[in-house]
Amino acid sequence: MAKIDMAKFAAFCKDNGFIFQSSEIYGGINGFWDYGPLGVELKRNIKDAWWLDMVRNPPPGPDGQEIRMVGLDCSIIMNPKVWVASGHVGAFADPTRKCSGCGKFTRADQLWAILAESEWMNSLIQEFTPVTGKYDTHRLMKWAKGKGPKLAPNLALVRNPEVTLAWLATRVNGQPDAPPTLQEFTHYIATEQLHQTGLQEPCPACGAPLGEAKQMSLMFESHAGLEKSDDSKVYLRPETAQGIFANYRNVLNSTRLKLPFGIAQIGKAFRNEVTPRNFTFRSREFEQMEIEFFCRPEESMKWYEYWRDLRKKWYSTLGIQSSNLVPREQGKEELAFYSLGTTDIEYLFPFSDDPQELEGVAHRGDYDLTQHAKHSGKVDDLAYFDEELWNNDSQTMSTRSFKEWLKSNTTPEQIAKYKFVPHVIEPSAGADRFTLAVLCEAFTEEQVKDAKGNAETRTVMRFHPRLAPIKCAIFPLVNKEGMPEKAMTLYRQLKPHFNVAYDDKGAVGRRYRRMDEVGTPFCITIDGDTMKDDTVTIRERDSMAQRRIPISQVKDEVLKAISVG
Ligand code: GAP
Repeated sequence: MAKIDMAKFAAFCKDNGFIFQSSEIYGGINGFWDYGPLGVELKRNIKDAWWLDMVRNPPPGPDGQEIRMVGLDCSIIMNPKVWVASGHVGAFADPTRKCSGCGKFTRADQLWAILAESEWMNSLIQEFTPVTGKYDTHRLMKWAKGKGPKLAPNLALVRNPEVTLAWLATRVNGQPDAPPTLQEFTHYIATEQLHQTGLQEPCPACGAPLGEAKQMSLMFESHAGLEKSDDSKVYLRPETAQGIFANYRNVLNSTRLKLPFGIAQIGKAFRNEVTPRNFTFRSREFEQMEIEFFCRPEESMKWYEYWRDLRKKWYSTLGIQSSNLVPREQGKEELAFYSLGTTDIEYLFPFSDDPQELEGVAHRGDYDLTQHAKHSGKVDDLAYFDEELWNNDSQTMSTRSFKEWLKSNTTPEQIAKYKFVPHVIEPSAGADRFTLAVLCEAFTEEQVKDAKGNAETRTVMRFHPRLAPIKCAIFPLVNKEGMPEKAMTLYRQLKPHFNVAYDDKGAVGRRYRRMDEVGTPFCITIDGDTMKDDTVTIRERDSMAQRRIPISQVKDEVLKAISVG
């Protein structure tokens, strides 16, 4: 994918009402974002598409049978014991390093990626040639005394350039055949007292040496009730999944679902990310679209493969080019100890050379239900009894009562055929991450000719029609001769069915450009001929092709383009 300047892109998203910085009038707040008038439509369309395609109308399973799927909407704050059982209280943490100068925290495992984005590093790197390891001492000195104090006031190179450059020279002279890599160079220019401290790693914000890595919890804490004590401590959920596990028995009892079946939820999640970055990609508040699919253990691999393949395909059907989508099967060393397989569906975002996670499809075994059984003591509630199978098999047994049968010499393996903890396949997607991917994928700048034949740059958001925030725009060609009234009548007829815009300002060419820029797939113009024969011009966003159709067909044309399949 072509690189996009993310700062420019964020400005474009702001100008067009897709995404705003949260609380911008107060200087913003790191890791929090708001969706503007068009962004909210886009994200809603994404969540609606997911709900329709995964919950109400998923394709048949591998056996050709209908998929059973129901939804939930759980509270964000749950009993804190949920998060002890799930392991989040004890272990949901990232390795983090504190800066000895400015006190800011940086995620230890992403240090080099974060440094590569830092302003001072991007400026300083101009003075170093990564392939040959060459640098110019005079230029480095000039940088240390010129730009350095403003960009990286605590960097050793800035605070004590003579000593720092002397260490670097010793290294280069000591191994003339092995020039320093960029990482080594960075270590040296961050180090003042080499013998006392060893080589240092610099803070991406100010350049001072970073401290040791420590695990820092990502859980946002609050208190329920007026008393602020350990007993009233609660957490904002870091994932929607646990609400599903905690309600597994309620769903079973209230729906009488039989295995295999899924429970889905869309909702907010909160993580106190150490280094929120890359626009909305890593935020502290975001929305997840999660499914927990429960099945018999011996069928779990089949279902894992089914969900992995289906989820990747879903992104392509919504306009993501398959060349930008990379499913990555996690290696054994990466897998959680209970997982029998996990695939990250990654997307080549334009801010990174490597694909980044959009969604994880994880085989979680029986880990979650077993943990909740252990911590809540509700062992029976979190197991599954295959009544149908028992009723069938017990016809030829000495007893039809399962309880009676348990009293005979039954082995754990025999019991597990009828009563067991289901295995779980979890496709867990980020609504905001996918919204960002859709925005990046749609963004196109192309050269076209204007009405006078002059070349101009057209910015067009090539959204899939199902996701486009505005589906269709209605233009009266001129604001007279009955055209505005006719256009307004059409607008009113269409707006109960999909999101429509009405625009009567400026030349039609400019109105087209405005609609291209926000990704509206169709523009309808009411002109002189409409007044005579009730036909309109329909103009398609991507091809810019125009044709005439009866005004009565507009609704169906648009509905056809935005409907499923
Ligand atoms: N229940 C499993 C789970 O939460 P995860 O991989 O931690 O798994 C699932 O999160 C998805 O949630 C990710 O693939 C991503 O799309 C989204 N996500 C996670 N952290 C995020 C963050 N800080 N900002 C935006 N989206 C995030």
